[in-house]
Amino acid sequence: MRGSGKQRDAQAIAHHYDVSNEFYALFLDPLMLYTCAYYREPDGKLEQAQEDKVDLVCRKLRLQPGETMLDIGCGWGGLSIWAAQHYGVKAHGVTLSRAQAEWAQARIKREGLEGRCVVEHRDLRLPQSFAVILDRCWRHNLSTALWCEALADHCNIERPLGYTAGILHDIGRIALLMLFPDDYAEFLDVSLNGDLDKLEAERKLCDADHCQVGDSLAMSWNFSAELGDVIAHHHDEVTSETPRMRLLVQAACTAASMSGFHVAGPEQEWDPARLELLLPQGSGLRPPCGDLMEKVAWKLNRTECSLL
Ligand SMILES: [Fe+2]
Ligand SMILES: [Fe+2]
Repeated sequence: MRGSGKQRDAQAIAHHYDVSNEFYALFLDPLMLYTCAYYREPDGKLEQAQEDKVDLVCRKLRLQPGETMLDIGCGWGGLSIWAAQHYGVKAHGVTLSRAQAEWAQARIKREGLEGRCVVEHRDLRLPQSFAVILDRCWRHNLSTALWCEALADHCNIERPLGYTAGILHDIGRIALLMLFPDDYAEFLDVSLNGDLDKLEAERKLCDADHCQVGDSLAMSWNFSAELGDVIAHHHDEVTSETPRMRLLVQAACTAASMSGFHVAGPEQEWDPARLELLLPQGSGLRPPCGDLMEKVAWKLNRTECSLL
């Protein structure tokens, strides 16, 4: 269904899910969960395994009473209803299927959860401009992560840690994008066509740049000091004091941009000299060479395919 219009998607959803709730009730558990279950016993029952699954999700989310949970693509509302009932959250489920929403609303009423749980029939997909920027951020981060992984071997840094740092280095940008979707579309415009530096453009339009926002996320999510440093300072100038991990990510981020994976910015030539500046002599880190580029590009294509 990728790339099709909203109307076509709505038709496909109606064709698949609006067959009838009775039909799905024939083979689903009482919570009407249409995703994999979590069997704690090999010969356990489906009903138990589905309850265990939603409960595990709630615990992993560390839901606290009074919090609000948004459940996009909530199906028949099983998770939302469970979270409202057992974790005291205000749950808001959204589904593209009218039949699912009607079934969930009836159950919410039956269980006396009105006011604590809502399931609505609505298309909550992102506007096109948002999706484009999110896609760019994602490709840039993924490509940086793959560059980090490739460079980590040369630089004696643990590969998984390098990969994580690369994936997360622009996490603040994704948060800003969520908070200010309209301003961010303008940001993209300004940084592609204007003279403003990217961080300045963000501060001007959103009152904070992605490093500052990323830094607060790193603190509230208890990231390690090494990761926090990368997220908060990956645009700082390189000095002899710059930690190795940050040098690695800065070089990888530049390599990602030079190999065509920008968030915003004009096309850049592949320039080893720029990378050498980021991986200075004596740091023990070696700049990536041309043949790594092909490897990373190939891996990126494969990773993207397997993610879709
Ligand atoms: Fe960045
Ligand atoms: Fe970056």
